[in-house]
Amino acid sequence: MRQLLDEAAKGGYGVGAFNVNNMEQIQSIMEAARETQSPVIVQASRGARAYSQDRFLYHLMIAATEIYPEIPTVLHQDHGNSVATCKSAIDMGFTSVMMDGSLMEDGKTPASFEYNVAVTREVVELAHAKGVTVEGEIGCLGGIEDGHGAGGDGLEHLTDPEQAVEFVKQTGVDALAIAIGTSHGAYKFSSKPTGETLKMDTLIEIHRRLPNTHLVMHGSSSVPKDLQDIINQYGGKLKPTWGVPVEEIQLGIRNGVRKINVDTDNRLAITGAIRKVFAEKPEEFDPRSYMKPARDAMKKVVALRMTQFGQAGHAKDYAPIPLSEMIKRYASETVAV
Ligand code: 13P
Repeated sequence: MRQLLDEAAKGGYGVGAFNVNNMEQIQSIMEAARETQSPVIVQASRGARAYSQDRFLYHLMIAATEIYPEIPTVLHQDHGNSVATCKSAIDMGFTSVMMDGSLMEDGKTPASFEYNVAVTREVVELAHAKGVTVEGEIGCLGGIEDGHGAGGDGLEHLTDPEQAVEFVKQTGVDALAIAIGTSHGAYKFSSKPTGETLKMDTLIEIHRRLPNTHLVMHGSSSVPKDLQDIINQYGGKLKPTWGVPVEEIQLGIRNGVRKINVDTDNRLAITGAIRKVFAEKPEEFDPRSYMKPARDAMKKVVALRMTQFGQAGHAKDYAPIPLSEMIKRYASETVAV
């Protein structure tokens, strides 16, 4: 992933990191990548790894790289809660891991700065020795995703720019997730976010102090009204809600954001498409009759985000560097930390 993010920094664009749990979601992302000629970050949470039983995920990703050899593809562990989780991901073949030491191992309790530095540093050492990229987090996101998260509205544990500098210096992470008011899930903001609820100024200040660090925006679904409406039109019960406007993400990209995490928008697209088939064709019982429209709906969202984030058209800019080469680079410190 380090290579993808370095290239994105050179080109001044962002790369979406899309969560998966099953074959159809991986297919949606890869098809969107081929259509838009985009490099790809596929990410799996601990919950996703448990759901897909690791080996299925592993072989699905191998299939993705066989079927789409022209697309530089990363498999990233989203929100690793411990050194052991990150280690098992690396052993399984992930090419990037997130050590989220902003929370304790329970994935809920905010951790101390010292704890965060210690566990993240340990993961950086073992990951870089295998050529694997590491994302850390300073400050805590709001909300809860797959049982992981501090909860709350995202404003409770904002990133302190000074601590962010210290954290990067002490850990040597490749990418840094920051808390600027976003949260995981569909219910991020109760009205269109303003500077009071989405702290883009904090992001800009962190980038000013850490101009060479790849920043990561979590909780970056835009929760589009049209996707909410489809779900509610066909029997769903979503409450009114607002996500992160794409133009704010683009402002982030102009200020050092290189990885943008999106899960909820794809969940909404899939659910809306399935509800529509169930409502309009109640006689259908072949899973393909609703999984295919669901896959197409997710592909459409992913392709749109790839274009909006600017990664479209960049798949063939470079040849992927194998982990064996990254090991040498990390060892010789030609990769700036
Ligand atoms: P969303 O819930 O906004 O899609 O965020 C996903 C995410 O940040 C995964 O780590």
